[in-house]
Amino acid sequence: MKILILGVNGFVGSHLVERVLRETSWEVYGMDLGSHKVAEFLDNPHFHFVEGDISISKEWIEYHVKKCDVVLPLVAIATPKVYVTDPLRVFELDFEENLRIIRQCVKYKKRVIFPSTSEVYGMCPDTEFDEETSCLVTGPIPMQRWIYSTSKQLLDRVIWGYGFRDGLKFTLVRPFNWMGPKLDSLNTAKEGSSRLVTQFAWNLFNGEPLKLVDGGSQRRCFCDVEDAMDGLMAVLRNEGGKADGRIFNIGNPGNDHSVKDIAEMMVEIWKDHPFRLERGTPLSEIVEESSGTFYGKGYQDVLVRTPSIRRMEETFGFKPKIGIKEALRKSLDFFVEEHKAMEKIVETE
Ligand code: UGA
Repeated sequence: MKILILGVNGFVGSHLVERVLRETSWEVYGMDLGSHKVAEFLDNPHFHFVEGDISISKEWIEYHVKKCDVVLPLVAIATPKVYVTDPLRVFELDFEENLRIIRQCVKYKKRVIFPSTSEVYGMCPDTEFDEETSCLVTGPIPMQRWIYSTSKQLLDRVIWGYGFRDGLKFTLVRPFNWMGPKLDSLNTAKEGSSRLVTQFAWNLFNGEPLKLVDGGSQRRCFCDVEDAMDGLMAVLRNEGGKADGRIFNIGNPGNDHSVKDIAEMMVEIWKDHPFRLERGTPLSEIVEESSGTFYGKGYQDVLVRTPSIRRMEETFGFKPKIGIKEALRKSLDFFVEEHKAMEKIVETE
């Protein structure tokens, strides 16, 4: 099988390439602006990487959509800070650029696996979000945070429409707070625009306070990326066509924690971490900050977000196994190495 991954150097793309190369003999064609997260695979004969921008390298993309069997358009802005500060960039990249790719999949009759998001459910009041029955509830227009949710939702609906009208073969996958090594980067965390665990890792490394937005009682179900990849690989393998025309939440309802819990657990792990002890980095405090100060006034939050993973369980026997402490520890250890590498670069400059 030949697969095309656009945005291959992102968090999901880089982990997926690793899995595909490890577990299959498929050919992977990948494009991204850079290659630092996939550097270790560049010499693999089954991995064909090209540096490029999806809004510019249009001919390469169309040629490879035609050539491949499955397309994963993973290019997207997925950090809440940017939804609030630059909503049109989110719409242009996450919706407009991806719509072009979807239309090519229709034209060349290629299967597409589209990364939807847990954010489409927004502030849905259900205790567990179900792919086919839960309502998708977002906030008013001045709350710019919802541009991501609604851009993704509209593309979900367009893809569904192409399946209905033109027989497009598709699967919509909804990640619920996947976390782990390579999630964003310490550089984005330095600017304060990374997702939670990476942001907190950066704060810890610098002895800065961990900020609980609006008190930190909001909850998320955190899914280790290795568990997430088990699910995504099952969808990609698509045995018996079981993933066709379906929507799947992929997450770990067993790791349901408040932001405050995460801060406390990370401080606890960091307290005795050899890297901290060796450096004598002061232990960070946990403080509260308003969302207006942290993100800007277009921010509105989701207080509870729990996936139903029944459809993944029943269809593929999906069972996430990695507990939150192990997942946090793995992330911290990874980012310690990234931090050391950043320091080396600064030293040689
Ligand atoms: C994420 C992103 O929108 C997407 O990556 C994604 O599609 C989806 O949800 C998902 O991963 O399921 P969110 O869960 O809000 O949104 O992402 P984080 O930035 O990781 O924030 C989690 C919570 O921590 C939020 O309530 C946020 O306000 C809080 N937070 C974040 C803090 O309290 N302090 C921080 O320093 C950072």
